[in-house]
Amino acid sequence: MKKSKIGILTGGGDCAGLNPAIKWVVKTALDDRLQWERGTQYEVLGIRDGWRGLINLEPAGAGLKVREYSAVPLNQEIVRTWDRYGGTMLGTSRTNPYNPRDDQSKAVLANIKKLGLEAVIVIGGDDTLKVAYKLTQEGVNVIGIPKTIDNDLPETDYTLGFETALNIITEEIDRLRTTAGSHKRIFVVETMGREAGWLALEGGESSGAFIILIPEYDFSIEKVNELILEGRRGGSRYDIIVVAEGAKLMGGSEFTRDVGVDSFGHKTLGGIGELIAKEIRESTKLESRSVVLSHLQRGGAPCAYDRRMGRYFGIAAIDLVVRKDFGKMVSYKNGKITAVPLKEVIGRLNLVDVETQYDIERYNGRRTILST
Ligand code: F6P
Repeated sequence: MKKSKIGILTGGGDCAGLNPAIKWVVKTALDDRLQWERGTQYEVLGIRDGWRGLINLEPAGAGLKVREYSAVPLNQEIVRTWDRYGGTMLGTSRTNPYNPRDDQSKAVLANIKKLGLEAVIVIGGDDTLKVAYKLTQEGVNVIGIPKTIDNDLPETDYTLGFETALNIITEEIDRLRTTAGSHKRIFVVETMGREAGWLALEGGESSGAFIILIPEYDFSIEKVNELILEGRRGGSRYDIIVVAEGAKLMGGSEFTRDVGVDSFGHKTLGGIGELIAKEIRESTKLESRSVVLSHLQRGGAPCAYDRRMGRYFGIAAIDLVVRKDFGKMVSYKNGKITAVPLKEVIGRLNLVDVETQYDIERYNGRRTILST
């Protein structure tokens, strides 16, 4: 039987859903029955720590301990329980092999060749998939799987990790509500999401937040204060405000935590929640606190939806490998698992459409859904 080696890696920020996808890539590639039908015996190598593992390759047998290899053979027994766990068993990094200040792409190309990989399955968000696309232009057979709690990739209605993150936001806000109500407090909850407001919007909708602030619509703090006072006059005892880390005051810019950028050129966002809490305290004299959910949103076990989507995406990725239909990202569109060219995914973001998905009067989710 013909033999073929596939590499798999996870890049960028971790999230729930990565391990289910890895598990189903391995199970589908190594499935006995399917191997006979395909006439090809696949081997799957797990690449450690994202692109970094392909830059500094330490293959098995190099005299290192198993945990130090950067390319590890995976089998069904190894991945059997992985879908229950969050994060990524392969490790990840924000390493950019095409970083203009230190281009390491030649090492990646050489190591893919050295490992004898027919294809590389890349589970990532916009940055990781941008690297994947550049590699396809250099002749590497790549398949992408979309993941990011930000849900900001175009050409797919779902990215792994998003639904688990929404569940976490909802649960944490449920907890805040009991203490907020007891003290008549306002809590400003800051979510992640970079330039995209999906986590704040859908997390705020799921938890019934009073105000939701998103990067796609610059807000006025005076209007936030007015809405709160109006709510209090109407009898509310406490308020939950959800704000995306990338949200901006009208005429202002996004808040950053430090001055540096990562190897893909991104700033670390954060701090808008505390600013809003302070402004509300000062203007309304109401007790107002902020909570930054931060990496809690990326942690913990994947919810049922991320386990299922990880499974479907993993299986579809191997379908593409078998068909030798490379340079594509598996995708979920209009209720169906499908595949789209990587070229169409990179270089743009899927953001909230304010006109149809946001209520600029209430600073909240829309209150009419069916169009007339
Ligand atoms: O892209 C995913 C994400 O969680 C963003 O929402 C957030 O801004 C960023 O990653 C945080 O990155 P890091 O974990 O490197 O601080």
